[in-house]
Amino acid sequence: MATYKIAVLVGSLRKESYNMKMAKALVGLAPPSLSLQIINIGELPLYNEDLETSLPDQWKVFREQIQGFDGVLFVTPEYNRSVPAVLKNAIDVGSRPYGKSVWDGKPGAVVSVSPGSIGGFGANHHLRQSLVFVNVPTMQQPEAYIGGAAKLFDESGNLNNESTKEFMKKFMEAFTQWVATNAKT
Ligand SMILES: Cc1cc2nc3c(=O)[nH]c(=O)nc-3n(C[C@H](O)[C@H](O)[C@H](O)COP(=O)(O)O)c2cc1C
Repeated sequence: MATYKIAVLVGSLRKESYNMKMAKALVGLAPPSLSLQIINIGELPLYNEDLETSLPDQWKVFREQIQGFDGVLFVTPEYNRSVPAVLKNAIDVGSRPYGKSVWDGKPGAVVSVSPGSIGGFGANHHLRQSLVFVNVPTMQQPEAYIGGAAKLFDESGNLNNESTKEFMKKFMEAFTQWVATNAKT
């Protein structure tokens, strides 16, 4: 199987973010045919269409960077039952100028992680609403709503819950198949 480059976007800027810890764990759990890179979205200026005529460097770099990937994996918390602004901003920045969206046709998947019991379900599905519009074919099964996050990581930030690890490994195997089937040629 070919090797596919996957951009990983994390919807939390928090130093001790569970979502960032999960993203790092997924880098290790991914099959060899997926090469994952976590992309920093915390420095992107807030989207303002007026800036399209004098692009912020961070937008330019981000758009070019994402163009070079075969797929995209979103790992996000839930903020007020929706997608954190930092992640929505990154999607908006990548989606413009009109007709030149960097997301178009790139296969994707969503993982939501929360200390709460419903595992960020609301954010996971709100995100999917935007992904339909920006034409990211998004893996439907397995779904990954990871609750109880405070108990899943050790003091060094490693995912140390065996059943979650096993589940996420299967999730990444399914995502590999999804990318292989849906990647643009
Ligand atoms: C502004 C804000 C809104 C939040 N809303 C929700 C929510 O709707 N559902 C939920 O499960 N947790 C919510 N939380 C709690 C987050 O799940 C928790 O802070 C989590 O640790 C954030 O993810 P992170 O560890 O990756 O930073 C909220 C936290 C903040 C700061």
